[in-house]
Amino acid sequence: MTREYRSLKYTYGRLLGYLMPHWNVLLISMIAMVFYSLANAAVPYLMETIIDALGSLNELNSYFVPVLLLIIFTVRGITDVVTVYGLGWLGRRVIRDLRSEIFNKYLVLPTSYYEATSSGSMISKLTYNTEQVAQAISDAIVVLVRDSLTIIVLVIAMIYYSPSLTLIVFLLVPFIAILIRVMSRAFRKYSVRIQDSMADATKSTEEIIHSHRDIKIYQAEGFQSKRFMGINQENYKSNLKIIAVRAIGDAMTQYVLALGIAFIVWITLSSSGLVQLDASSFMAFLTAMGMLLAPIKRLTNINAAIQRGIASSGVLFEILDTSEERDKGTISIECANGEIQFSNVTFSYRNNDEVALNDVSLTIKQGTSVAFVGRSGAGKTSLVSLIPRFYEVEDGTIFLDGKNIQDLTMQSLRKQISLVSQDIVLLEGTIAENISYGMDKDIDQESILSAIDSAHLNELIQSLPNGIHSNIGERGAMLSGGQKQRIAIARAIIKDAPILILDEATSSLDSESERYVRDSIAKLMKGRTTLIIAHRFTFTEHVDKIYVLDEGKIIEEGTHSQLLEKDGIYRTLYNMQTH
Ligand SMILES: Nc1ncnc2c1ncn2[C@@H]1O[C@H](COP(=O)(O)OP(=O)(O)OP(=O)(O)O)[C@@H](O)[C@H]1O
Ligand SMILES: [Mg+2]
Repeated sequence: MTREYRSLKYTYGRLLGYLMPHWNVLLISMIAMVFYSLANAAVPYLMETIIDALGSLNELNSYFVPVLLLIIFTVRGITDVVTVYGLGWLGRRVIRDLRSEIFNKYLVLPTSYYEATSSGSMISKLTYNTEQVAQAISDAIVVLVRDSLTIIVLVIAMIYYSPSLTLIVFLLVPFIAILIRVMSRAFRKYSVRIQDSMADATKSTEEIIHSHRDIKIYQAEGFQSKRFMGINQENYKSNLKIIAVRAIGDAMTQYVLALGIAFIVWITLSSSGLVQLDASSFMAFLTAMGMLLAPIKRLTNINAAIQRGIASSGVLFEILDTSEERDKGTISIECANGEIQFSNVTFSYRNNDEVALNDVSLTIKQGTSVAFVGRSGAGKTSLVSLIPRFYEVEDGTIFLDGKNIQDLTMQSLRKQISLVSQDIVLLEGTIAENISYGMDKDIDQESILSAIDSAHLNELIQSLPNGIHSNIGERGAMLSGGQKQRIAIARAIIKDAPILILDEATSSLDSESERYVRDSIAKLMKGRTTLIIAHRFTFTEHVDKIYVLDEGKIIEEGTHSQLLEKDGIYRTLYNMQTH
């Protein structure tokens, strides 16, 4: 986290921006807090009145004092409810908005961000950090404003009863201020550590959930458990430190105040004659001073919550300020023809020094099909990832229908593309929901069924109790690899886009299913620009052109028969597979 996001002024200033739209609620709560503090100040006065009344017992006083007491506590009670509910509402509201904002930000971050950030820490920021901010808003404002007001009002009362004694009490202020300062620093330091360990804990848990099979087979339980214990211990230690700082700080503040009280009692009771007070004023003064203890205690304690909130909101603001996917394009295309051209495209991943694509130039005519072949790591997936702009090219240009794809709006560009990617992640939900995923128009049952038919999924649907409305579990866990691929193909069929990209789309299918699916893909390919990546050569015989990639470069191109004649890499690869 950069310095800016750690600063109290910056983060609170920015949080205030979230509060401002609800200024009316804030105002009502503030007014309630003022009355609450005034009601508190009436208590020393009540004390004075009681003691005076004891001196002159009469009928009037016997009613006046209890009624006054009830009035004071009625005001206190009502204003308390208004404040706590009002600020609670405010805190939850800000969090609701902040959470949505973070979630929506997550949706538009560049692919590279997801690759560089652990999902666990992203989740924990959305769940844990936002909670901390909510507390810093609602609890902290109540304590900060109301208790500060109470302290001010009580101090005024003290000055009223005895300015000289108040002056003596004030000598204690610097000591308490130093105490609070030292505590704040410690709170903030340990809060950041706690947040980090929470993120690590989420990360670890996520990891073991997703890799439970690998953990079992490689017997990594011990490793995982030990690593988690480390994280857990870190969290425990930081929390304990915060508790210790709070407890000690609290006790010390109280002790400093007690010293003050002892000193005052001594001065007043000694025969020095420094201070002269009657009994009722002295009791009122002591009551006011005693009442200072609770708000001061809360003020020092709330510090922890405020520091946590600042540390948390800093992290959140930093996410909100992360730059989104660049979408400067202005041209919006409805339905592309589908001609794709790469002109001297060079690309490397940010976290990888080697170039993934090196000076690639090619043209794919509208409605034709091409295949990319080459060794693992040659750059095939990287090449097709540039078309929907998952990454930005470094050098060179990609054109769609003669227009630089950077000049198209992201939405209209992606609308032109159906993609069956190498690692398919389905969403929790039914088969129908997965197939019609993200479509803005309502998809009728008929189209879904026909897509299912084309993707050769009939058998699966018939075996499921609820047909296409059967749930497939988190990430499609209840399906086999090949079934997932066919769902993804059905999804691509439904999208009906002019460009179709298939990255190892049939790699998990057996030869028989693949033959069926190939037939439906062949149907799907008609009239569309199709880019196929396949290790198996079953497709390459049927495409219009084949590009052989190696180390990010196109090293051979031509039709299947041309390349076989050429006696190059393609032929070697082909022979290896067919013999
Ligand atoms: N997200 C990424 N971040 C950094 N480097 C990457 C990333 N994805 C791929 N690479 C690197 O880029 C190079 C090309 O990878 P790419 O995924 O394009 O290969 P491929 O031809 O699709 O391989 P395969 O047939 O195994 O799928 C590889 O050296 C790989 O290590
Ligand atoms: Mg790949």
